Amino acid sequence: MKKLIVSNWKNYVATTAQAEEILERVNDFLESLGETLEHGSTGQPKELSMVFCPPFTFIKEVGNILMTSHFEHQAVLGAQDLPEDVAENFKKMNVRYVIVGHSDRRYGLGESDEMVNKKLKDVLRNEMIPIVCIGERVRDENYKKFLEQQIAGTFADLSADEITKCIIAYEPVWAISTNPDAKPDTPESALESIKIIRNVLIGDKRLAISDLPMFLYGGSVTSHNVGDFLQHDEISGVLVGGASVDKEEFVKILSIVKQSNENN
Ligand code: PGA
Repeated sequence: MKKLIVSNWKNYVATTAQAEEILERVNDFLESLGETLEHGSTGQPKELSMVFCPPFTFIKEVGNILMTSHFEHQAVLGAQDLPEDVAENFKKMNVRYVIVGHSDRRYGLGESDEMVNKKLKDVLRNEMIPIVCIGERVRDENYKKFLEQQIAGTFADLSADEITKCIIAYEPVWAISTNPDAKPDTPESALESIKIIRNVLIGDKRLAISDLPMFLYGGSVTSHNVGDFLQHDEISGVLVGGASVDKEEFVKILSIVKQSNENN
């Protein structure tokens, strides 16, 4: 299965022109893959699976670009949050994924587990896929308990069937690049946290192992570490912030992900 790359542009990309510049570079990269695949291939090469989450102000424009050229079948539109009363509009714009519970909102804007839970249900009700961010603020002796409580609150009252439809992004807050002392988690310790989350879902939510949702890792992902995370079957992709807006760095990430898809 192809690994998923979710670009969370946050507000780093401030104008449509900047967005176009990044996407143009990605498009060129995809075109270069197409050239190597031309012989005997039918239609577009479908090597990558990308989600771009731009700021709301030009989400529609980005959505239009993603429907053209080499992006088709390899990239879809995502949103950074679900503001009230916009779900219908998002659907019309072809938004397929929505990030909920990002730490900027949980801690910067005081969004509680209850609020995240409500948004999560709204996203599902509107047939989009929630990318649910889960992660401890500090890695101390209580972090396991913290994760268990966050999972319980965030997924309250959701059926096993609904949870299966979600994607969980394990994003330890201390590892996110906006944090002054940020450093990426190690794959081993991220896997440990994913195991804690999986156990809650299996134990409390009665999910069968085969029905567990997909897990992504997020927090200071770069071209230097993306391959290490993706070599584990339990990690189905990455959520990339800062490095997704540096077009050369992002293309390096894409090429490592492509390699990892080929090896799997
Ligand atoms: P980062 O951001 O990759 O810059 O650490 C990740 C995120 O905030 O989702």
